[in-house]
Amino acid sequence: MTGRNEQLKDLAMKEIEAQRKTVESDHRRSAFHLMPPVGLLNDPNGFIQWKGVYHVFFQWMPFKTDHGAKFWGHYTSTDLINWELAPIALAPGDWYDKNGCYSGSAVVSQDKLMLFYTGNVKDEQGNRETYQCLAESEDGIHFDKKGVVLNLSEGYTPHFRDPKVWQHLDKWYMVVGTQNLNEEGRVALFESTNLKDWTLKGDVTASGEEPIGDLGFMWECPDLFELDGKDILLFSPQGLKPEGYLYQNVYQTGYLSGEMNYVSGKMNHGSFTELDRGFEFYAPQTTLDENGRRLMIGWMGVPEQGEEHHPTIEHKWIHMLTIPRELHYEGDKLIQRPVKELEAMRQNELKKEITLSNEEKAWEEFHGTTYELLLHVQKVESSFAVNFRNNAEMMYDADKGILTFKRKSFVDGKDESRSCSIDEVHNLRFYVDSSSIEVFVNDGEEVFTSRFFPEEHDVSLTFNGNGFVDVKATKWLLEAK
Ligand code: FRU
Repeated sequence: MTGRNEQLKDLAMKEIEAQRKTVESDHRRSAFHLMPPVGLLNDPNGFIQWKGVYHVFFQWMPFKTDHGAKFWGHYTSTDLINWELAPIALAPGDWYDKNGCYSGSAVVSQDKLMLFYTGNVKDEQGNRETYQCLAESEDGIHFDKKGVVLNLSEGYTPHFRDPKVWQHLDKWYMVVGTQNLNEEGRVALFESTNLKDWTLKGDVTASGEEPIGDLGFMWECPDLFELDGKDILLFSPQGLKPEGYLYQNVYQTGYLSGEMNYVSGKMNHGSFTELDRGFEFYAPQTTLDENGRRLMIGWMGVPEQGEEHHPTIEHKWIHMLTIPRELHYEGDKLIQRPVKELEAMRQNELKKEITLSNEEKAWEEFHGTTYELLLHVQKVESSFAVNFRNNAEMMYDADKGILTFKRKSFVDGKDESRSCSIDEVHNLRFYVDSSSIEVFVNDGEEVFTSRFFPEEHDVSLTFNGNGFVDVKATKWLLEAK
């Protein structure tokens, strides 16, 4: 380890201490989501379970609430609820990562935890260079950088990053998010027998290819995995134009499903499906855990989407990760469900149940900032809405078959909304935290993930039914022990 890496880690630790009071005094700090101890957090990285312990690393800028030369922060957990901040895994202290240890993934090989990440470098003129790098650990806590394992391949610009590595049969594979020289998004595939020497196989798929057509200028954070008999390619394309209710955020995340041919390196797939309907969801990463579940965590943020207006900046921190979700592929659709473990956060003695009908109701007994709310929708003739702290609202218009999440913008205070068409709503499960709401519709068929920033004193929850409405609501206060 060079002196520079240690120095940087030291400075970052000092920054945590220096800002601890300012950060922790923010009422918007989450009760059960992963956040930066100070500064900016973005993508989840290196998500893996090893020897019973879950590891989530994260893109981290400790010194400001803006992007820059990223570190890899590190959390560990045995139950996916209680997370401990581990020592900093990677600092941008070497020539090949001096402008950031960018996103990447983790695998286990020969009893070591191996991190693959992008070394981001900018020269004096601001030209970008990119290196795919390796760091290894024997204890899962301390990492030794091993340097560059892959240089930029011909035919791509230096926007070439975010290696996701996995094993298939007797070989290792790596996908890298990139663009070609015409600035069209791509996912490049590499193959290796030893994790050190990598050979380019070609593009798994690309913007411009059928049946996806033009799909943006850059694809970030690819992830390729098998799920319930299908192969899924998950990635975050940049440059899609809004289309009806779709692609409303600055950048998107979505997937292709089909069959991966490991001999040709090509995937035969259908059309692109956006993964989330809310305001803040980007760059998710999955892992196969030791129980064989495919789990996913995402960044509850979007690059360049009003980031400088988040009110948490005043408290020297910004952004958080989503709750961990279990993925399935059912009925030609990727389904997301909160991991079962989260049920252990329910304070059962504080469970409340209520039946709602055609009325307006302020749920005093349901007030709070941190809870799970489950609505069983038996029948809705016209519409209903649930309002959270006078700052966000979920509305279901059964006449039109439209589900809408509305919130007060943190940029200008005006109402803004995201919607999706839906045939029928059977249930809505809300995970509400001090400044976020994740809504799982029909057991994960659709998900709306968003931040919201209500006034501290307003902890209200109100229901408004219009026409005949029969909804059973159950609420659990949540607490990570
Ligand atoms: C996605 C991303 C990645 C990159 C990282 C840098 O949000 O832009 O492509 O590796 O963030 O922090």
